[in-house]
Amino acid sequence: MPKVTTIAELRLFQSQNRMHRSWGLVPTMGSLHEGHLRLIAQAVEENRVTFVTIFVNPTQFDNKMDLDNYPSSIDTDLQKIQAIDPNICVFVPSVETIYPDGAAVKKYDLQGLDKPMEGLHRPGHFDGVATVVERLFTLIQPDVAYFGQKDFQQLQIVSLLAQPMGIRICSSSTVREQNGLAMSSRNRRLTPERREEAKLIYELLQWTKSNFSSHAIDDLKEMVVQKLSKTPAFELDYFEIAAEHNLQTANSKKDGVSYRAFIAVVVDDIRLIDNMSLN
Ligand code: PAJ
Repeated sequence: MPKVTTIAELRLFQSQNRMHRSWGLVPTMGSLHEGHLRLIAQAVEENRVTFVTIFVNPTQFDNKMDLDNYPSSIDTDLQKIQAIDPNICVFVPSVETIYPDGAAVKKYDLQGLDKPMEGLHRPGHFDGVATVVERLFTLIQPDVAYFGQKDFQQLQIVSLLAQPMGIRICSSSTVREQNGLAMSSRNRRLTPERREEAKLIYELLQWTKSNFSSHAIDDLKEMVVQKLSKTPAFELDYFEIAAEHNLQTANSKKDGVSYRAFIAVVVDDIRLIDNMSLN
């Protein structure tokens, strides 16, 4: 399987595949699970050439401990990618390759999409994400890039970023553990007990969806906070209901608007996020 780490190697692979359009890109931070693998399989199905990037981007971590603890399993990742298709080009750059002038983050006008929820609770996070995604788009020049709805706010932000670059964004729905917990590389750090208890996050989203038409948004938010407070090990970072198109958090419903519930919970220092469409 072609594994490339430098820009020179990447350029060589690209020049050898110039005629084989279209190109699909799946950016990841590694520690691949079924959520990533579905995106990769979709990219393979829909493109002549697929690029997967594995890069733990330091500039999107607002918390050094979270970056230090981020899991890594490059050999297993490569095996999993190879099992999908041995022709996938896996780009595993160094920090210096992505940030040749030092880890400088650009400031973006993300039309307010970066302000609420993850943006509010992880200052600078989305400038870091936008910087690395723009760099990967520029280096790889894909026709289409694949992102998961698990990170819905990120998905909306990269869609905005991709538009002027002429890159199409495809999204796929959230892949879950059997108990409903959204798959995440961070889940590996949960004890088996906490992993089981964490199904509560999914249950709260489902409960919100079932009650969305019959309850006011403020009441739903209050009830979710109350329900979660019964499990002290789960500390709520935020629970919000927001319009899907602009991600502005809502206190009341408007006709014709699609809403989504967003939640972030910290358990044993591990931050878990999830979201669900409501109507
Ligand atoms: P990472 O968390 O590794 O996720 C890579 C891609 O997989 C993202 O598009 C994410 O939304 C998707 N994904 C993760 N868990 C998923 C699940 N359970 N179901 C479906 N899709 C899932 O997101 C990032 O990396 C980084 O921010 C990145 C975009 C690579 C920039 O550094």
